[in-house]
Amino acid sequence: MSRLPFAEAAERVKSGLDIIDIIQRHVILKKMGRNYAGKCPFHNDKSPSMNVSREKGIFKCFACGVGGDSLTFLMKIENKTYGEVIRDLAQEQGIEVAYEGQSAEIASVQRDARQKILDLNYSAAKWFEEKLREPSAQGVMNYLSGRYQGADDCQKAIQQFQLGYAPAGWENLTPHLKEKFDFVQANPDLLVTAGLASNREHGQGHYDRFRNRLIIPILDDRGQVVAFGGRALSDEDKPKYLNSPETTVYKKSQVLYGFHQAKDAIRQNKAAVVMEGYFDVISAHLGGITEAVGSCGTAMTDSHLKLLTRFGAETVYLAFDSDEAGLKAALSAISLIEPYMDSSELQLKVLIVPDGKDPDEFIRHHGGDAFRALMANARHFLNFKFDMALRGIPVHTPEGRIQAANRITPLLASIQRPATRSEYIKLYSEKIAISEEALLLEVKRYEQSRNPNPPRVWGGSQHSGKKKAISKQGSTSLKRNEPVLTENMTELRSQLTSRQVAAEKNLLKLSLYNTESFYLMLSVLEAQAASSQAFLSFDDPIHQEILEGLRGLAKEPSAAKTDPSGNGFLGTLIEKMNHLYFDKPDVLHTFAELALTAESFCDSLGLGEIKGTVFQEKVSLLAKQQLSLLARGRMLQQLQQLKTNASQNEGEQVELTYQFQDRLFADTRPPQAQG
Ligand code: UTP
Ligand code: MN
Repeated sequence: MSRLPFAEAAERVKSGLDIIDIIQRHVILKKMGRNYAGKCPFHNDKSPSMNVSREKGIFKCFACGVGGDSLTFLMKIENKTYGEVIRDLAQEQGIEVAYEGQSAEIASVQRDARQKILDLNYSAAKWFEEKLREPSAQGVMNYLSGRYQGADDCQKAIQQFQLGYAPAGWENLTPHLKEKFDFVQANPDLLVTAGLASNREHGQGHYDRFRNRLIIPILDDRGQVVAFGGRALSDEDKPKYLNSPETTVYKKSQVLYGFHQAKDAIRQNKAAVVMEGYFDVISAHLGGITEAVGSCGTAMTDSHLKLLTRFGAETVYLAFDSDEAGLKAALSAISLIEPYMDSSELQLKVLIVPDGKDPDEFIRHHGGDAFRALMANARHFLNFKFDMALRGIPVHTPEGRIQAANRITPLLASIQRPATRSEYIKLYSEKIAISEEALLLEVKRYEQSRNPNPPRVWGGSQHSGKKKAISKQGSTSLKRNEPVLTENMTELRSQLTSRQVAAEKNLLKLSLYNTESFYLMLSVLEAQAASSQAFLSFDDPIHQEILEGLRGLAKEPSAAKTDPSGNGFLGTLIEKMNHLYFDKPDVLHTFAELALTAESFCDSLGLGEIKGTVFQEKVSLLAKQQLSLLARGRMLQQLQQLKTNASQNEGEQVELTYQFQDRLFADTRPPQAQG
């Protein structure tokens, strides 16, 4: 196949991209109407603030503001340049790229920087492997045979995991790589960038980072050496493990140790076991647990989980030691991943290795089958969390039962999925011998105490007290007060004219542009409402919901008003709307779409270039235009209705039609309320 010029290849690459597919490599996405939402990987996101549109091929985080297309996403998350991303995607799609011209030169320089680190790592790994076979490696070979009884296992470990040896002494690898690569000769600092050497503090030159250590290469999912772990050979040597720093080719949060060796088994078994240490993984593989991977001292992230699910894992076991530190580690790992679990199909299970052993020791002593038995008995992570909370509580006494209920109530309240929640209420009401009803009440009470004004009430301000009282009596009376999307409403939506819908959309987009436009628009709409009841409501029921939500939020004293720069305004709004309509994905979806397009829409109207009173006047003018469009639309609708009604009464028909047409064309302001 011939090589395509860069620009042409880039076009071809881009046309073959599916943004959902791209982002799903790093973030768990949940479908919301036509769009997708997930936790933004670019900030510490607590709720899914990032929205992704497949049709538009764009993403936007409403909390931190980052947004763009597939390429910007990859550039940011993989810390790559445009050229690198195109080149990598081209490689994935089997497109060959010829580098030429000036911008291609820049791209190739940047690509080379990464490639150089990969080349250095590869050569270093080979060199470490060689060193392990030399006589000077006797010490490390003794260390390894101390870990593995049979010589067989020892050799297997070395081969399967490409173990090596970094000799003692300051300058062994460094001169070797200098000699081997001209680019190191020219720029020895590259060794530091790659994490293979350090700068001398005094004087010039570099020395080896890894000295007298057992070397454990860390591979990425494609099998490229991206980093190293170095095990000290004696307890006196600190740290126990010295690892490569993060580099452009090594992001800890995205790499799992042993993944390359494990991925086939993960696919086959539809499961993966995550262990803490390098040797846990190595021993697991030797013992036949070939779906084992290592988190290696870093916290599990959703990127890790995503990597595993991408390769077909449906169940992920987290293995921990049974000592106090291990249990704590399990709980903290769960708390990090739990927010992602609600939207994930993944089964997350906790596996505690008994007798204070780690998986490495356990498997070496008891064998792989015994470990499989532990996997079979692993508990669902929620189960584990609940059991941990109940540890040491005497549930056979009345006091104990109450204490137990107090402990698990917040845990139950944190379960979002109704089915899961009721399952756990059932399970644990039995375990602590408290009735399901009582436990359910505890949870409700807890939720109310935490959130005395549930956000649903914002929309219908003056009725809030009433609503709460009503809601206890059952759902029929509640429904009348709450705008609920029903089949009828969907039907109604489809009957609206596109012009009306567009006008409603435009009004909402104007509100969502920035803090200033938000408050301005809401006051314009309120004023409209005061002069005529008719125009506070939108015809599209989803738009109406959004309007109600925004109205409520605008009245909140703590709303974004205080934010002078306007940054984060949309993020706050999104978060609150998420709260408000968490159960109405249609509304959230439409809202996300409006918010997503508000900026470009308003900029296209020139709002980006004006400030102060000019801005305010223009926004108000635009709002009035859209409102009168709406008014016209509504009158036409009424006219239509009138015609239909009047058709049964010919005499009245003409009269009424004329009356109405007069009103319509004489004045496009909203009609006064009937009466
Ligand atoms: P552990 O301290 O549990 O070590 O650290 P281990 O895996 O059981 O190692 P051995 O059996 O004593 O040799 C668990 C993991 O945490 C990371 C390593 O990845 C280690 O395997 N770690 C630990 C470090 O990166 N640096 C350290 O100094 C210690
Ligand atoms: Mn260990």
